[in-house]
Amino acid sequence: MYRTHTCGELRMQHTGETVTLAGWVQTLRKFGSITFIDLRDRYGITQLLFNESLNSKLDETPIGREYVIQVKGKVLERSNKNPKLPTGDIEIEVTEFAIMNIAVTPPFTIEEDTDGGEDLRMKYRYLDLRRPVLRRNLELRYKVNRSVRNYLDGQGFWDIETPYLIKSTPEGARDFVVPSRMNGGQFYALPQSPQTFKQLLMVSGYDRYYQIVKCFRDEDLRADRQPEFTQIDCEMSFVEQEDILQTFEGLFKHVFNDVKGVKIEEAFPRITWDDAMWNYGNDKPDIRFEMKIHNAKAKHTVYNTALDGVEFKVFNEAETILAIAVPNASEYTRKQLDELTEWIKRPQIGMTGLVYIKCNTDGSYKSSVDKFFTEEKLKEFAAHCNAATGDLILILAGAETRTRKAMSELRLEMGQRLGLRNPDVYKPLWVIDFPLFEYDEESNTWAARHHPFTSPKPEQIELMAMPERFGEIKANAYDIVLNGTEIGGGSIRIFQRDLQEKMFAALGLSPDEAQEKFGFLLGAFEYGAPPHGGIAFGFDRLCALLGGQETIRDFIAFPKNNSGRDVMIDAPSAIDDKQLNELNLKVTL
Ligand code: AMO
Repeated sequence: MYRTHTCGELRMQHTGETVTLAGWVQTLRKFGSITFIDLRDRYGITQLLFNESLNSKLDETPIGREYVIQVKGKVLERSNKNPKLPTGDIEIEVTEFAIMNIAVTPPFTIEEDTDGGEDLRMKYRYLDLRRPVLRRNLELRYKVNRSVRNYLDGQGFWDIETPYLIKSTPEGARDFVVPSRMNGGQFYALPQSPQTFKQLLMVSGYDRYYQIVKCFRDEDLRADRQPEFTQIDCEMSFVEQEDILQTFEGLFKHVFNDVKGVKIEEAFPRITWDDAMWNYGNDKPDIRFEMKIHNAKAKHTVYNTALDGVEFKVFNEAETILAIAVPNASEYTRKQLDELTEWIKRPQIGMTGLVYIKCNTDGSYKSSVDKFFTEEKLKEFAAHCNAATGDLILILAGAETRTRKAMSELRLEMGQRLGLRNPDVYKPLWVIDFPLFEYDEESNTWAARHHPFTSPKPEQIELMAMPERFGEIKANAYDIVLNGTEIGGGSIRIFQRDLQEKMFAALGLSPDEAQEKFGFLLGAFEYGAPPHGGIAFGFDRLCALLGGQETIRDFIAFPKNNSGRDVMIDAPSAIDDKQLNELNLKVTL
């Protein structure tokens, strides 16, 4: 038997027992004739005591960091207890030990806070995963997975696998493709999601489907994106949007409670896409704090009478003027305001200037535009922003899209600076009524905002024949947002062939192209497709948020870096000529 207990298990009640432990050497400390070793495994750390009689043996067979050892000994109460460790009341007085494997010195310290940089940790990911912080993250991921499965099982969902070697699924990213040896010159695409398959399962009658499944998207990576990531993918038949929102709100409440002990009784707020853009500047609002955006002027329409008669070129010429009232920040110093101005000028934000109005606690106003605004006008502007005394109003002016985006970023930044974005507070909400289409400025074409299988609001179907009005059409599509991150999205689907054909036509696909790409789905819709709808959640994102972090990498055992590389196994990599020939491929680089 390798061990009788794990390294996280022993407590005071075990004192006197003879036990055998096995694990990795975390640290080794020599004090004269005695030596202490901290032994680590997945479950925790236990202190080992090698007294005088064993110490000479240790000199003969030295032990180093990360050696795998087995020890036998007696559980003793510690004289010097460590309240920070669950096993901190005891130690093992070792009577026998064996080295099971030696280890070279690891390239970074395997501690809670390591000295290893990101690249090094990724290269030696198997060592990084020994660190308690990553172990906790993977444990959380496992618990979320289990909790999701339990809930969905209870709701009658079946886990059904769908293939990875498929034809393209349009989710807005590029495909990863796999050449076929048996079908020379032809390629599979890896699924960006199982979207079309889950819809086909509905046609087959499997009316509650789910899968915790890998999806593959070749897109620019960020902290919350990976080229291969995991979705909790779900689909239901004979449902309306309301049924889906209820079912999956239930899933979230279950998981929050089960995994974090957080009980959310009330219904998740729902806001329309239009309202989200208007009030928060983006479609994934962080509603842990208020600080809504006030629209003084938007797309040249003026909403604030304080601007009447004011001759300030920047405001007069701007397409859009947006403001936020930052609570209790009127005492911001010149230096702080200059720094904030630099912040909004950074290329990522891209604004040229920041206007402020201080609503001083003595009732007076001070602004960077005093030259153009009378005190009366400043007061009026402040009233429009619902600003209280002590608030600092920040104003951005410029082109609509850029200004709204910049204001959304500024709002989040101010929320961060004021400590209003507490990771332990969970504020989920639904964003509903998304536009069906979005205009792609680069290609000058309309694209599906969610994906082409999303149904328009029934009363707006006729607008699908009027490209000039595409922008008005709303979809039965919804996102779930948690603390400013989009963690899921879905829609009620089109389930009639003719409507699906209309959708493809609106997206610029000729009937032949539609048949070639999606003939299987159009065909299936002729054989009794039920009304259906679904949703998919970003499993990695959900785990990261429940772990209080934004980067999903540390919630994935073996992630890719920002260039999409696995630096540990060195992938992607070249393949040899024999393999290329078999696949009928030529590399022209
Ligand atoms: P969507 O494309 O919105 O919907 O994806 C669902 C959720 O998956 C997460 N996500 C990602 N997570 C990590 N890395 C990525 N590269 C990445 N891309 C997306 C997000 C997102 O909300 N088939 C539809 C769902 C449906 O209509 O049922 C779909 O895939 O959290």
